[in-house]
Amino acid sequence: MSNWLQYSGKRVIVSGCHSGIGHATARQLLELGAEVHGLDWKPCNLDLHSFARLDLRDTASIDAAAAGLTGSFDGLFNCAGMPPGPPPIDIMKANYLGPRHLTELLLPQMAQGSGIVSISSNGGMGWPGHLADLLELDQAAGFADGVRWCEAHPDLVGEGYRCSKEAIIVWTMASASRNIKTGIRTNCTMPGAVQTPMLVEIEKVTPSAAIDVVAQPFGRRSSADEQATALLFLNSPQASYINGAALPVDGGFMSAMAIR
Ligand SMILES: NC(=O)c1ccc[n+]([C@@H]2O[C@H](COP(=O)([O-])OP(=O)(O)OC[C@H]3O[C@@H](n4cnc5c(N)ncnc54)[C@H](O)[C@@H]3O)[C@@H](O)[C@H]2O)c1
Repeated sequence: MSNWLQYSGKRVIVSGCHSGIGHATARQLLELGAEVHGLDWKPCNLDLHSFARLDLRDTASIDAAAAGLTGSFDGLFNCAGMPPGPPPIDIMKANYLGPRHLTELLLPQMAQGSGIVSISSNGGMGWPGHLADLLELDQAAGFADGVRWCEAHPDLVGEGYRCSKEAIIVWTMASASRNIKTGIRTNCTMPGAVQTPMLVEIEKVTPSAAIDVVAQPFGRRSSADEQATALLFLNSPQASYINGAALPVDGGFMSAMAIR
């Protein structure tokens, strides 16, 4: 971890701090002296400034958690997410509509110069092919309208995970140009294979060899800490001119695919 990132005394929110990338993000922020407010549907074993349970599939639970987060914030880290497997609408809610709803609630409390970062995936790399539809989803204002859009577009939503990750990228790009008007930068990352509890679950139903294809050309999977450091950088004052980016943190997989 780089201690040149300026987080001392900064007030930040991290969703998904129970495990994996969100846990590593919250831990690194604490090590840098930030005041960390955690959110998850499972408990967190870190010494956080505050922690609230929320289910990102449920607006009432998101509203309640957001109401407990008072004052101004310097960073929002949307790290929570569900793997492929559950019903597609649950994945769309937990990975995209819920984080979007939470972000919109917290937007008025984000300080000038603050950052919002979310985690997409290189599984979302097909977004350019669905741009018109994903922009329509972005414009489906509010959680309930978003759910209606998903229910009306089962072919696009598919198994849920790919669409949720594509939607995060397009939402990041669209909201970046809106949010920067009030001095808030908005970015996301596109990880490859990251050794976290989610990948352990995925590996129960996906051959390891298929996962390790995504770990090429680097030749190994990422750690959660390597992903967290990229998120910390994007939300730090040091990344002051980075806005609207979908940053691959995949060891070069997508660039290798692009020149095949
Ligand atoms: N692990 C990978 O290979 C990989 C690759 C690309 C992208 N990602 C993304 O990174 C993000 C973090 O995943 P991870 O790998 O750290 O997995 P993880 O399972 O360790 O972490 C996910 C976190 O989200 C929380 N969560 C899940 N559903 C929730 C809900 N409905 N409400 C509130 N909290 C909920 C979990 O409790 C957990 O703390 C996810 O968005 C995931 O899609 C992971």
